[in-house]
Amino acid sequence: MIELALVLVGGYLLGSISGSLLLGRLRGVDIRTMGSGNAGGTNALRTVGWQFALGVVLIDVGKGAAAAGLLPLAAPWLSAEPLDFTTLAAAGGFTAVVGHVWPLYFRFRGGKGAGTAVGAIAVVAPWCLAPLLLVWLVTLIGTGYVGLATILAGLSLVPSMWMLGPAPLPNALAALAIALAVLLVYTHRANLARMRAGDENRFEKARLLKR
Ligand code: G3P
Repeated sequence: MIELALVLVGGYLLGSISGSLLLGRLRGVDIRTMGSGNAGGTNALRTVGWQFALGVVLIDVGKGAAAAGLLPLAAPWLSAEPLDFTTLAAAGGFTAVVGHVWPLYFRFRGGKGAGTAVGAIAVVAPWCLAPLLLVWLVTLIGTGYVGLATILAGLSLVPSMWMLGPAPLPNALAALAIALAVLLVYTHRANLARMRAGDENRFEKARLLKR
């Protein structure tokens, strides 16, 4: 079980490296005080620009993939009978998302976890990526709301995991899909409130279907 502890803690520490806050420090900006206030790729694009946002997304997605894909590789050195790769990868991927949302190095005020979740999913359940991207794009094009697109894509993770994953579905993957879907809805609660109030940020350029 020592390998599980290492992956859980390592995932959290990796996830705490927030792309937007790290690059923002180098640039002298804190995007938590700008735009939507979210420390993530969307707000980086909205407030600073595409090159900055690209760096943010690469770091945030990359750390999710690293936590899920690389940390479990240390397991055989730590335990004679380590847990299986899928369980460790799901555990590391999930705590990386938790680290992104409540980062140790940035006063526990981070982002919403979507990019980091995508990185983790790319490693543990790559079959979910296409449906997730489809739901995200259709919602974004239809509404212009990135937050709504991310919430619906996060929720689509649960049926995608069951319908397209291996049968029987490993418990770790079932738990990961449900935990990420719930966490993404929770982290987007301010977006939902703004949508209800009618003042959510909209990417008009992405919104092709206008009423
Ligand atoms: O992943 C974050 C995105 O879904 C919403 O970002 O800045 O519009 O709250 P934002």
